[in-house]
Amino acid sequence: MSLPKGYSRAQIALHWVVAVLIVLQFVLHEPIAEAWDVIEDGGVAAFDPVVAMHVFGGLAVLVFAAWRLVLRKTRGAPPPPEAEPAPLKLAAHLGHMALYALMILMPITGAVAWFGGIEASAEVHEAMKPAMLILVAVHLLAALWHQFWLKDGLMLRMKRAEK
Ligand code: HEM
Ligand code: HEM
Repeated sequence: MSLPKGYSRAQIALHWVVAVLIVLQFVLHEPIAEAWDVIEDGGVAAFDPVVAMHVFGGLAVLVFAAWRLVLRKTRGAPPPPEAEPAPLKLAAHLGHMALYALMILMPITGAVAWFGGIEASAEVHEAMKPAMLILVAVHLLAALWHQFWLKDGLMLRMKRAEK
C-alpha cells in the first residue's frame, strides 16, 4: 500500500476531538477521584454530571482511538518528513504508538475499576497518568519545535487534509 501524503479529514478531526477529551479528563479528574474514594470506603458515590463526563468522555476516547487505528491500517498515515534523522523518525513513531497504547489502556483500566469495582485496576489507571502527561508534553514540544525551529510545516498535516 502506498502511503498517503497527508491525514484525512476524519483522522484530523478525531485527533483534535481526542486531544480535547484527554485534556478534560485531566482538568476534571477531581470529582471521579473523590467518587472513587467514597466507593473504596464502602459508600455509594453520587453519579454527578462531571463524574459521568469522565466515564463517557473516557469511553469516547477508547472508541475514537480504535477508530483511528483502523483508519491508520486501512488508509495509512503520511511518512515522517524526509529530512528527519532516522533516530528521530523512530522516536516519533514509538511516541505515537505509546500514545495510542495509553488512549486504549487508560479507558479500559478506568472502566474495569469503575464498573467492576476492582481497586488494582484503579491503581494501574492512576499509574498511567504521569506517562500520559509526559508523552503529551513531549509530543506538544516536538510539534512546536517543528513549527518554530525547523519551520517545516509539519503542523499543517494536522490542520489540512491531503490525499
Ligand atoms: C492529548 C493530546 C494529544 C494526543 C493524545 C495526540 C496524539 C497523536 C498521535 C497518536 C499522532 C500520530 C497520528 C498517526 O500517525 O496515526 C499525532 C500526530 C500529530 N499531532 Fe498529536 N496528539 C495530541 C495533541 C497534540 C497537540 C496539542 C499538537 C500541536 C500543538 C499535536 C500535533 C500533532 C501533529 C502535527 C501530528 C502529525 C505528526 C506527523 O505527521 O508526524 N498533537 N498526535
Ligand atoms: C483516556 C481516558 C482517560 C484518562 C486520560 C483518565 C484520566 C484520569 C485521571 C487523571 C484520574 C485522576 C487520578 C488521580 O486520582 O490522581 C482518573 C481517575 C479515575 N478514572 Fe479515569 N481517565 C480516563 C478514562 C476513564 C474511564 C473510561 C473510566 C471509567 C469508565 C475512568 C475511571 C476512573 C476512576 C474510577 C478514577 C478514580 C480512581 C483513581 O483515582 O485512580 N477513567 N482518570
